[in-house]
Amino acid sequence: MEFTPPSKRCLPTKSKEEEEDDERVYQTYRNLISTLPTENGWSSSNLVLYQGSRYVPNNFLQGVMAVQQHFKARPTDILLTAIPKSGTTWMKALIFSIVNRTHYDFTTHPLLTHNPQDCVPTLETNLYRKTSITNPDLLPSPRLFSTHISCSSLPKSIIDSSCQIVYICRNPKDVLVSNRYFGNKIRAKFNKDQPLLSLAEAFQLFCKGASPFGPYWEHVLGFWKASLEQPERILFLKYEDLRSNPLVYLRKLAQHLGYPFSLEEEKQGVLEKILNLCSFQNLSNLEVNKNPDKVSHVGVEYSAFFRKGQVGDWKNHLTADMIEHIDRITEQKFHGCDFSF
Ligand code: A3P
Repeated sequence: MEFTPPSKRCLPTKSKEEEEDDERVYQTYRNLISTLPTENGWSSSNLVLYQGSRYVPNNFLQGVMAVQQHFKARPTDILLTAIPKSGTTWMKALIFSIVNRTHYDFTTHPLLTHNPQDCVPTLETNLYRKTSITNPDLLPSPRLFSTHISCSSLPKSIIDSSCQIVYICRNPKDVLVSNRYFGNKIRAKFNKDQPLLSLAEAFQLFCKGASPFGPYWEHVLGFWKASLEQPERILFLKYEDLRSNPLVYLRKLAQHLGYPFSLEEEKQGVLEKILNLCSFQNLSNLEVNKNPDKVSHVGVEYSAFFRKGQVGDWKNHLTADMIEHIDRITEQKFHGCDFSF
């Protein structure tokens, strides 16, 4: 089966009048954004506080507002949710491979020539970010999307639908280190006159919640609580568990999405093939993900989504004081939750 990235398949051909209507809608978002409180930020010069979370203005936040207002979920949709740098790219690859495993051969698989970001579009950045509203209604079911929007800000249409949701979370110390690396890639490209974000600065901002889609702890807690209330609908996964026990969690993921592996598939080694295809080692070495000319929807090279892919790299970066401080916040915030890092 020929693969065309969903973001290209749902581009509507719009008349000039329709485009002007879209532009008016986005202008109302920008007007609203200009009235919101701002703070020193991560990759861009500031972050905007909206509904309790921090967003990069205007491109990203106007995308969030457009998703809230226009996205219509279907019960068959699959939505991957995460705070950035928790393993979204990996999960996109896994979910795409699970759902499409009968459509594509592993030797000519779309993931060999497309970055996972192009296989599973992020609602606010791939589909609704530009000044023209794309139309995901044009996509056939089952549609696969991801979003970084916090649980409490998800569009009503998603809350009200019965679509499946997967949340991936990761140790906050690794999220901080990974986020600083990614943010500096963006700074180096788009804010050349700004110095790179120091570790001390990134640490301070992260701890006070001023990182994209932050605060980290509230983002995780929102989905954790929702997964307890609706366990049949929201699967809460940890990056670290997937790393240490990939087969177990791949089965769990497939089961949750409604695409369980058959005994025959187990015997044929389909699970191992999916894990190998989606492994850091494999994906990060593909031409599409290495080529500096291949740029993602957020403007940086695809290679920026692959750094080390390890658990615990924070040990090579954070000072003892930083570790103690983040651990204390994590203990306080996640007290009573039955998960830990
Ligand atoms: P590091 O910076 O710690 O290496 P996101 O996809 O949410 O932006 O997260 C990016 C993080 O996931 C990066 O972490 C990246 O290296 C890691 N990653 C990307 N692809 C991966 C894969 N296939 N397996 C494991 N980790 C992966």
